[in-house]
Amino acid sequence: MTDEELLARADAIAANAYAPYSNFHVGAAILRRDGRVLEGVNVENAAYPLGVCAERTVLSRAATEGLRPGDVEAIAITASPCGGCRQWLHEWLVERVTFRQASGEVVTRSTDQLLPEPFDL
Ligand code: THU
Repeated sequence: MTDEELLARADAIAANAYAPYSNFHVGAAILRRDGRVLEGVNVENAAYPLGVCAERTVLSRAATEGLRPGDVEAIAITASPCGGCRQWLHEWLVERVTFRQASGEVVTRSTDQLLPEPFDL
């Protein structure tokens, strides 16, 4: 599974986003180290701050399946990850983060590039 193929999975699953307030559909797909793929979408709520980003949805699915930081090789996201999600990507030690910038350009970054001087406990 290439990063481009992973982004295609994220693009496809974005159709399932529940985003009636922003109408901004986001899809995310992770490549597990065992080769399997998990997908997630953003899920909004009438109480706006309670909405969940696609990245956190898919990483929560990974945790539910028993995965832990280091078990996720790569993630692809249909949009640039927000600041909070960058902290999540750092926590999960995701090696490659592929996403589509607002300009439409697709880039792959490390979490160090996305979040310099991160918070750790
Ligand atoms: N969103 C994500 O799902 N991931 C991000 O990293 C950026 C923002 C969602 C949250 C909200 O449902 C919508 O995009 C508009 O902000």
